[in-house]
Amino acid sequence: MINDRLDALADYPFRKLSALLDPIKPVSNDAPLLLSVGEPQNQPPAFINEVIQENGHLWNKYPPALGTPAYRQAVADWLTARYKLPAGFVDPDRNVVPVPGSREPLFMLALVTIPAAKGGGKPVVLVPSPSYHVYRGAALAANAETVYLPATAATNFLPDPESVSREVLERTALCYLCTPSNPQGTVGDVAYLKSWIKLAREHDFVLAVDECYAEIYDALPPAGALEACAALGDGPNGTPMDNVVVFHSLSKRSSAPGLRAGFIAGDAKVMARYGELIGYACTPMPLPIVAAATALWRDEDHVRENQAMYRRNFDIATRLLDGKAGYFRPQAGFFLWLDVGDGEAVCARLWKEAAIRSLPGGYMAVPDANGVNPGAPYLRIAMVYDNDTMEDALGRLARAL
Ligand SMILES: Cc1ncc(COP(=O)(O)O)c(C=O)c1O
Repeated sequence: MINDRLDALADYPFRKLSALLDPIKPVSNDAPLLLSVGEPQNQPPAFINEVIQENGHLWNKYPPALGTPAYRQAVADWLTARYKLPAGFVDPDRNVVPVPGSREPLFMLALVTIPAAKGGGKPVVLVPSPSYHVYRGAALAANAETVYLPATAATNFLPDPESVSREVLERTALCYLCTPSNPQGTVGDVAYLKSWIKLAREHDFVLAVDECYAEIYDALPPAGALEACAALGDGPNGTPMDNVVVFHSLSKRSSAPGLRAGFIAGDAKVMARYGELIGYACTPMPLPIVAAATALWRDEDHVRENQAMYRRNFDIATRLLDGKAGYFRPQAGFFLWLDVGDGEAVCARLWKEAAIRSLPGGYMAVPDANGVNPGAPYLRIAMVYDNDTMEDALGRLARAL
């Protein structure tokens, strides 16, 4: 009755976290803080409420699969400015599909891109380990073989394109990358992204690059996969963005995870097929939400304020944690990735002694061929609160470590 191929979906990181922490009662009198989930605790720009109200007469409309021309244009303009793309590089009608946040398309893309067989065998999905759990869930649902690529300190916490065997590449239908990476906050540069794009084109697989942390960065704006396509010489007259799909969201950029708004962009053939899938299986963004999201892609003020807040959080972390638990200041994102020796044990102790919920790194990774889980020594700390709260939280954390 139940598809047992999906049994591993029960291995959901936050379910495991509840199983670990719910039986434990914190002994600390401090207010509990949830540094386990990457959910911004500040508010999105207030103007979205006005925009939603102004468009309230549209709640009676079924949302169109591809949003509105104004939304797709705002996205194309943002991509062009953010990644310094040539004018006309992104065609808003062929290269952009609006989506309700990035989780749904990250999952659904597997249904669009994975054939019954590839390279004479079972299709492969390449997934970094550790990484966001949705990639492996998608591979499982699409009945592909998941090949995990180590994303460890040895390779700047990003999978090495040269580490994949030719046999595996020939069967690869889809490869997920995440840069800036969750959980570690490292960034692949243009040269790195170009290597993956060349590999994807050579072996004809889709490169799915999750860039949902692209706007939360410290010193320099992270490179993007479409920027790498432009650097490879793609252009409107050639075959622009072949084999490449990027994922963006307003959840982190504008602190609006509740809005459910984002886009995917890239290869026109994949976009067209994804657009068809929406008509069967996906929930397009409602029109008042599309209007608010259009305004958010055109807003930069709140994004700059957000960046400043996260930078100050990292200043606090550097002051309180430098020299402890392998602390490093990541290039991007809002997570700390601390080498605490045994992530699960320290997570349980932090909850008990300091009322801080964190996420054991091992819950985001799988054991390698030698049975070693590359995330197990780590703890992920989401620095999603304001500076005063983070000062308190990281002080508690430093004392407990
Ligand atoms: C790496 C990564 N990708 C995608 C998502 C999905 O976010 P959303 O669906 O809100 O865009 C998250 C959420 O935490 C994430 O961490």
